[in-house]
Amino acid sequence: MKVAIGCDHAGLSLKNEIMPVLDELALEWSDLGTRTEESVDYPDFGEKVSEAVSKGVFERGILICGTGIGMSIVANKFPGVRAALCQEAYSAKMSRLHNDANVLILPGRIINKDTAKEIVRVWFNTAFEGGRHQRRLDKIMTIEKKVKCQ
Ligand code: RB5
Repeated sequence: MKVAIGCDHAGLSLKNEIMPVLDELALEWSDLGTRTEESVDYPDFGEKVSEAVSKGVFERGILICGTGIGMSIVANKFPGVRAALCQEAYSAKMSRLHNDANVLILPGRIINKDTAKEIVRVWFNTAFEGGRHQRRLDKIMTIEKKVKCQ
């Protein structure tokens, strides 16, 4: 599975903790930045990862900013992206089981590194349940198409 990871300056230190976990999970991943502490604008990095997932270049994405809110707003603008902001493992698990989330958003200034690592492991190790949840995702796709035509 190909995974893109990105962050702003507020998410950098957590991203550095998460990348070794992606190796541990044997994922093929690319870091799309930022790579320094210099202040940057989260929409720039949110766009890089979300656009790549939306276009199918990467199957999954991870985005990290301070609260996770800015990255969530950006990511969910992209067709086919289902981004889930998770602060604990239960939400991460449910976002895969019920929502087939394909972008995981983490809040770098809210959760600690151990919680973040647990979230990442659970998120990649949980499969979509399908069934009635697929019907709901189909409805989201219908909404996306409707909004695009307005
Ligand atoms: C950056 O200071 C901060 O605003 C950003 O990381 C994020 O929390 C925005 O939602």
